[in-house]
Amino acid sequence: MSNYYVTTSIPYVNGEPHLGHAMEFIMADVLTRAARQQGETVIFSTGSDEHGGKIAEKAAELGLKPKELADKMSAQFSGLAKALNISNDRFIRTTDPGHEQRSKLIWKALAKDIYKSKYIGWYCTGDEAFFTETEVKANNGVCPNHNRPYEKIEEENYFLRLSKYNDAIREAITSGSFQIYPDTRRNEILSVLDEGLEDISISRPKEKVSWGIPVPGDAHQMMYVWFEALLNYITVLGYPEHDDFKQFWPADVQVVGKDIIRFHAAIWPAILMGLELPLPKVLYVHGFITVEGKKMSKSLGNYVAPLDIVKKYGVDPFRYYLLRHIPSYNDGDFSQATFEAAYNNELANELGNAVQRTAAMIEKYQDGVVGEIPPAEHDIGEYKLALQACRFDKALDEVWNQVRGLNQYIDQEKPWMIAKEGDTDHLREVLAYQASNLLEIAELLEPFMPETAAKIQAVFRDGKVYPIEGTLFPKSETKDEASEE
Ligand code: MSP
Repeated sequence: MSNYYVTTSIPYVNGEPHLGHAMEFIMADVLTRAARQQGETVIFSTGSDEHGGKIAEKAAELGLKPKELADKMSAQFSGLAKALNISNDRFIRTTDPGHEQRSKLIWKALAKDIYKSKYIGWYCTGDEAFFTETEVKANNGVCPNHNRPYEKIEEENYFLRLSKYNDAIREAITSGSFQIYPDTRRNEILSVLDEGLEDISISRPKEKVSWGIPVPGDAHQMMYVWFEALLNYITVLGYPEHDDFKQFWPADVQVVGKDIIRFHAAIWPAILMGLELPLPKVLYVHGFITVEGKKMSKSLGNYVAPLDIVKKYGVDPFRYYLLRHIPSYNDGDFSQATFEAAYNNELANELGNAVQRTAAMIEKYQDGVVGEIPPAEHDIGEYKLALQACRFDKALDEVWNQVRGLNQYIDQEKPWMIAKEGDTDHLREVLAYQASNLLEIAELLEPFMPETAAKIQAVFRDGKVYPIEGTLFPKSETKDEASEE
């Protein structure tokens, strides 16, 4: 078996964790658990992005030191991962001394691709990004993401020779050695490469941005936050000397959102090429979530705290919703009504009932004895292909075809009629088939809904049925009351 390395982007610590962060953690967790299920040795890394002007600004606003804010918020992100049952092996913070020290090593290793020059242009601290004259003009000088004017900057910075790698990056993408899913995102980056990458600034003067990692050998310059944040994917493995790095790089899948594709499909590959390292095998780019049809924002009052949903409905229904009802290759919407509908119809009525009815009939007619459970028999080719392509929604559709198929089978076979007729052999066969099917469903669900899978497996084991306490997905009074709040 081989090694498998998965990463998420590392969230900024200037704000609370939201649904987008939760979804990204969960998607990467599905890939991780699926790989482990196949017997791979996995490292799954996530973390927090803690430097830069944006964090320093937020800390000042709150009367905190940047590191105090980072400590507080980083703990919220690692807490979120825990609450979502994310099985990450690592959580890297860009303020970790190891990251800082290795980032400096990388800077030095890239010396041949770094030069000093004058940057005249625009910057938005909200985006922590540089913008061209054309972009700024198109937005009439005001950043639409942050509703504030772009800052005009004129400074002496270090530049990375991105232009040098333009064609090699394109070649890696078109040859398939560096895959980008979905195709729409791949095409987007190919057209950026067609226009040609320009060299980019990778440092800021210390007097302007002091919260960061110093450029080695220059007391006046700090590394541009995006430059060092990208390095987390290899510093966390102990680049350059550690065995983990040697055995796990290149990453099998890097999961990021659509707004940061250029950083991951242009700048990051250029850095890797400069270090003479292979590119990740797959970059999976998910879309954006809106809430009740609108951009998520505290000021619009539609901010949904992931932990509130988990508290109310449990972790697996939340994972399920984000994986199946937010399109894996597109943007999607989270609404209370569609969430409740999915919970009631798909989880409680379809999956929950299939488990409940089967267990109850085996108890009632066979004293809880299933007997020999026949092996699974469904073709899971489509499910596997969907997972490989990070089509989580499609993989779950495949599982649900089985869930629905099983309910139809029960309705058609009517085991209660068979029991009435006294055909015990046939009854045993039908119920054993149902149990077998549910165990197969549990196995397919494991990466997506690990607790639910374990519960189903605990019901049907050793040829017997062990009743669950309550139901898998309760439609309780308190839940209905809570939803009317
Ligand atoms: N710190 C950078 C990433 C550095 S990686 C070397 C960053 N942080 S972020 O907190 O702004 O975003 C973290 C992830 O959340 C990104 O992949 C981003 O696309 C994703 N999302 C932010 N808002 C989102 C939605 N509304 N919906 C889905 N994902 C979203 O970018």
